[in-house]
Amino acid sequence: MTDIATLRGELQQKGLYEADAPPEPHELLAAWRVQAERAGLHRAMVVATADSFGKPSCRAVNLRRSDASGLVFYTNYESRKGRELAENPNAACLLVWYELSRQIRVEGGVSRLPQNESDAYFATRERGACLEAWASRQSEPITDRAWLENRFKKYDERFTGVAVPRPPHWGGYLVSPDTYEFWQGRPNRMHDRLLYERVGVSEWKISRLSP
Ligand SMILES: Cc1cc2nc3c(=O)[nH]c(=O)nc-3n(C[C@H](O)[C@H](O)[C@H](O)COP(=O)(O)O)c2cc1C
Repeated sequence: MTDIATLRGELQQKGLYEADAPPEPHELLAAWRVQAERAGLHRAMVVATADSFGKPSCRAVNLRRSDASGLVFYTNYESRKGRELAENPNAACLLVWYELSRQIRVEGGVSRLPQNESDAYFATRERGACLEAWASRQSEPITDRAWLENRFKKYDERFTGVAVPRPPHWGGYLVSPDTYEFWQGRPNRMHDRLLYERVGVSEWKISRLSP
């Protein structure tokens, strides 16, 4: 595992220059994710949504896939975020690694993944996580912890001896990015910010923003 303080210093010295920016932003995001993972850092991102009045909310989710199509996370479609995305299918995502003095902002439209893709991912989850997806009414108030544990037990019994199927209210979302902004901290707060804006299916305009 890389020593984080050393890596952070190297990245701050190296900076982020246009010459090192790949034409497609998902490639740079992938490279930064690999560096973070090698340094033992998390895989989560913050996703901000807003209701139909524009009132925002945000929360951490695990980033399960990132590629040319966008960013994928899984959740309960009836949760607060699910309800907000139904009203307003747009999100702003933040991947931040404080230890590396780095962040990536991604903004775009959001759609549900095809059901077969959510099924395939659900099938890779541990049984307990699958039962929780049935037991939890994510974001709803509940009387106490026992309520949740009883529901978990109920579904454990219901699915005894069989693979737990994906509940219809649970699945993936794809954030289809319009913009990515990569922020690399530098000495003297002379930070680097490169903004990618989509100008075609896989064509991006790159510009530099003042820190
Ligand atoms: C590190 C981390 C990862 C998380 N990953 C997920 C996730 O992948 N999916 C999810 O639904 N909730 C995840 N959560 C919980 C959410 O932050 C949140 O509590 C939940 O999704 C309900 O949010 P909502 O009420 O805004 O819909 C995670 C929380 C943390 C701290």
